[in-house]
Amino acid sequence: MRARITGSGHYVPNKVVTNDDLGKLMSTTDEWIQQRTGIKERHFVDAESVQASDLALPAAKMALEQAKLEPKDVDAIIFATLSPDAHFPGSACFLQTKLGCGQIAALDVRNQCSGFLYALSIADAWIRAGTFRNILIAGAEVHYFGLDMTDRGRDVAVLFGDGAGCVVLQPTDDDDRGVLTCGVHADGVGAKELWMELPASRIRADQVAEGQHYPRMNGKAVFRWAVEKMPEAALTALGKAGKKVEDVDLFIPHQANMRINQLVAERLGVPADRVVHNIQRYGNTTAATIPIGISESWREGKIKEGSTVLMTAFGAGFTWGAALVRF
Ligand code: ACO
Repeated sequence: MRARITGSGHYVPNKVVTNDDLGKLMSTTDEWIQQRTGIKERHFVDAESVQASDLALPAAKMALEQAKLEPKDVDAIIFATLSPDAHFPGSACFLQTKLGCGQIAALDVRNQCSGFLYALSIADAWIRAGTFRNILIAGAEVHYFGLDMTDRGRDVAVLFGDGAGCVVLQPTDDDDRGVLTCGVHADGVGAKELWMELPASRIRADQVAEGQHYPRMNGKAVFRWAVEKMPEAALTALGKAGKKVEDVDLFIPHQANMRINQLVAERLGVPADRVVHNIQRYGNTTAATIPIGISESWREGKIKEGSTVLMTAFGAGFTWGAALVRF
């Protein structure tokens, strides 16, 4: 038994914020951002009441419709996010109620940019084990209210955007279809190279004054690790599936930086026309980047029946992973 992706959907809020718009809030320029990251604009929510589960809701409906399922058919929701509706409970619980699913399993995954691949790995195992049949994975982020939009936070704030992507997984007994491999990894040696310390089990006023409730990053260290670990994980995934880079029809890397993805594709030997980039329009939507990439590529005809798609991600933790999926 394998887990097959039978539906996908995505949603981004309407408000578009350009690099020049950010330049009015902090000392940055369109040229700096585009040159280093490839980002031209991102979408942000425009009301504090809009949470990650609200962005996931239309994406989930779109994915269920493509899979020809109703909310009542969903057996489990796995929600990957670093910007949840609340510190607890998980956003999967909020989405379960908003969608109108039954009293099913609802789990949040907190693995940041690798969150979607960790969620895929869990869903794959649940389906193979026969635990659940119809699983909805959501990756959704509302970064806007959690970014330091001043000079202090400019190195991080310019990178992110809000958005959501969902996929539906269902069992198939076709041996050559579905999630062929999905490997996930971590090394806590990098935990403080990219982190947001608060909210934690203790919160002191001086920590807030120091801005520890905003994400902080050693960009150069993250870059170095990402360009090493993403190709490594991708080659491991290909090897385990007995496939080669030439078998890959489409490569959907996590969208943290276009330069990272170009380097990773180059190291793997994936031709540029098989690489999905949407960072120009959305920035880094963290757990949502890969499912947005799947949903857009499927609708644009880049993913077809039988397409072999390689995905890889790297992010905070450090965590990383790669999956090979045949549609
Ligand atoms: N606008 C203008 N100047 C800036 C900005 C900004 N937004 N941010 C920083 N600078 C300045 C710095 O202060 C520095 O100035 P200095 O030379 O006077 O000291 C200069 O620009 C260069 O800064 P660097 O940090 O050296 O720039 P770098 O070339 O490393 O690029 C970047 C920074 C784009 C962040 C890059 O390091 C990167 O992409 N790293 C990986 C990011 C990533 O993958 N994050 C993971 C995803 S997040 C997650 O998992 C949750």
